[in-house]
Amino acid sequence: MTELQDKTIAILGGTGPQGRGLARRFAQAGLTVVLGSRAAEKAEAAAAELTGALGSTGSAVTGAANADAAAAGDLVLVVVPWDGHAELLRELKPHLDGKVVVDCVNPLGFDKQGPFALKVEEGSATEQAAAILTDSTVVGAFHNVSAVLLEDPEVDSIDTDVLVLGDEREATDLVQALADAVPGMRGVYAGRRRNAHQVEALTANLIAINRRYKAHAGVRVTDV
Ligand SMILES: NC(=O)c1ccc[n+]([C@@H]2O[C@H](COP(=O)([O-])OP(=O)(O)OC[C@H]3O[C@@H](n4cnc5c(N)ncnc54)[C@H](OP(=O)(O)O)[C@@H]3O)[C@@H](O)[C@H]2O)c1
Repeated sequence: MTELQDKTIAILGGTGPQGRGLARRFAQAGLTVVLGSRAAEKAEAAAAELTGALGSTGSAVTGAANADAAAAGDLVLVVVPWDGHAELLRELKPHLDGKVVVDCVNPLGFDKQGPFALKVEEGSATEQAAAILTDSTVVGAFHNVSAVLLEDPEVDSIDTDVLVLGDEREATDLVQALADAVPGMRGVYAGRRRNAHQVEALTANLIAINRRYKAHAGVRVTDV
């Protein structure tokens, strides 16, 4: 936790439910958070709303254009839809060089039968990010955490494990610490980037579970 106190957490696509939800929890943990958006004023409005909602229970959240948020962040979370993933990362690459980039994107499709995992040329969204961001350290995490729970002010504890994938120990340790900063959450190292596909794809199973059982299912790993 102490290693996170002097770091800025930037959240690209931070105006959506998942980005806002993660921002809420990190701000409640006292961390410095900046939301990014394709439109700066949209991020500023979302940040002001969140800061107002948290009041004295969290640190102030700021908003900026994605490029400025990326430049400000020490850890930069990518929380955009799969459709815009590659394009956004190519555009922001100069701002992300030298940083830890945490990819949270699930390449999923939906049809009449429900959710399903898409095939990704690079193997996974996390590996696609690493292929584009050759001068960043890319970690995959927070794929299986429900936005509904993250955004619910009545939920005090997010009781789930966060599977953290990456090839650089220092970076995966840092992202595990970020997950650990949220009450109830635990970061668990889950393998190298080449194993990210099945973690991203697992979200399709969780959505199917949620639909059947009217739940907000998450993952817990036993015996660790
Ligand atoms: N929702 C969940 O429960 C959940 C759970 C786990 C993981 N995730 C993953 O988190 C990511 C975001 O989920 P979400 O539900 O928050 O999605 P979302 O609301 O559809 O998108 C998040 C934000 O991304 C930006 N965006 C939209 N299209 C874009 C594009 N083509 N290029 C760049 N930015 C774009 C938008 O912000 P601006 O218009 O402000 O730029 C939007 O507010 C997804 O990859 C999803 O798989 C979601």
